[in-house]
Amino acid sequence: MKTTIAQVPEFQGKEVTIGAWLSNKRSSGKIAFLQLRDGTGFIQAVVAKNDVSEEIFQLAKNMTQESSMYITGTIVEDTRSKFGFEMQVSNIELIHESVDYPITPKEHGTEFLMDHRHLWLRSKKQHAIMKIRNEIIRSTYEFFNENGYVKIDPPILTGASAEGTTELFHTKYFDEDAYLSQSGQLYMEAAAMAFGKVFSFGPTFRAEKSKTRRHLIEFWMIEPEMAFVEHEESLQIQENYVSYVVQSVLKNCQLELGILERDITKLEKVKAPFPRISYDDAIQLLKDKGFTDIEWGEDFGAPHETAIAESFDKPVFITNYPAKIKAFYMKPDPNREEVVLCADLIAPEGYGEIIGGSERINDLDLMKQRYEEHGLTGPAYEWYLELRKYGSVPHSGFGLGLERTVAWISGVEHVRETIPFPRLLNRLYP
Ligand code: 4AD
Ligand code: MG
Repeated sequence: MKTTIAQVPEFQGKEVTIGAWLSNKRSSGKIAFLQLRDGTGFIQAVVAKNDVSEEIFQLAKNMTQESSMYITGTIVEDTRSKFGFEMQVSNIELIHESVDYPITPKEHGTEFLMDHRHLWLRSKKQHAIMKIRNEIIRSTYEFFNENGYVKIDPPILTGASAEGTTELFHTKYFDEDAYLSQSGQLYMEAAAMAFGKVFSFGPTFRAEKSKTRRHLIEFWMIEPEMAFVEHEESLQIQENYVSYVVQSVLKNCQLELGILERDITKLEKVKAPFPRISYDDAIQLLKDKGFTDIEWGEDFGAPHETAIAESFDKPVFITNYPAKIKAFYMKPDPNREEVVLCADLIAPEGYGEIIGGSERINDLDLMKQRYEEHGLTGPAYEWYLELRKYGSVPHSGFGLGLERTVAWISGVEHVRETIPFPRLLNRLYP
């Protein structure tokens, strides 16, 4: 019976065949222990000299790392193993012999591993991170589908920038200029006026010359947009969504969190509601903590965000930033024109901003005024104004950066390990 490692618990005491690769191996005179992986999981296979032909025993003993095979044996419980089961081997059919696999079980430097990303993805730790990424995506779809959202796909090639013009990837679109999307937001606003509650999930591109552990050039964003939803209700949606994702990972990725040695007591606390602190209070908090390099009106850097997050044991919303340092579409606070109805959600443990969101300006004249102030003109933006002309309603939305969220939940230091093939300032390969 052909099966996969993930399914072996159903085959206890039975003989099965698995297509697998050899990730590591140990052997003594009469026994060989093969560490196998098949993409669905990891398992140890035991080859005893007395149970198999001499030919098969020699094949097992001399097998090289990452060789591929069909391996047949009986599944038995193994309480010492993290995976709970092992295979007692009766036969091995070698498919392909791997020669000189570069990533050996010893330590390697990051640049070496990044050069071999196409192979590095096979390792246990990288596998665990990608499985957690997958669970975050799965539970995201589940959350929004269960709450009545429609998934809408904004374009990747766009004529306008959503988040400012300095970080755009430019390309030719026949005789016109086009840019790779920085955010699907403007299109999601149009979609919200057509479908009420919508969300997108797709790649976004920013030509940021930042070389930090939080920045990628190409990253994936989840962007919900909701008609008839004002600022405070949007924050509630955000905290419910993030709690749902974290609790789903805790429930469905125990093995992976264990492989990554993640301190799950920190994640268990991530349940709505989340604390909120205004930008004004955050500035005061930083001053009280001894920061002398920040004044009202300036944006926070990574050390500031980390210091603010340290005051809370859950993600924290920083709300109502000065209009000057935020995007043109954010709605001013009706009680205080110089700040906007927005929030950034800062993850705990120094992972920084994972969500940026706001209520949007829904008044046509004010939006026109913002256009003039920001020098935004032309057909690329005219359609966006029409959303304020035909039945404009209060609406809000936000964008969650997938890779920063994966880094935080997995507890990995750098976003480069949270996407299969990272695009970084100095890296376009593999
Ligand atoms: O705060 P940002 O720029 O917000 C927007 O793009 C809005 N238009 C979203 C919306 O309201 N629909 O980006 C949103 C999130 C950030 O909080 C961060 O998590 C992530 O995207 N992000 C990045 N992640 C990795 N690398 C980068 N260079 C990132 N830039 C932003
Ligand atoms: Mg932001």
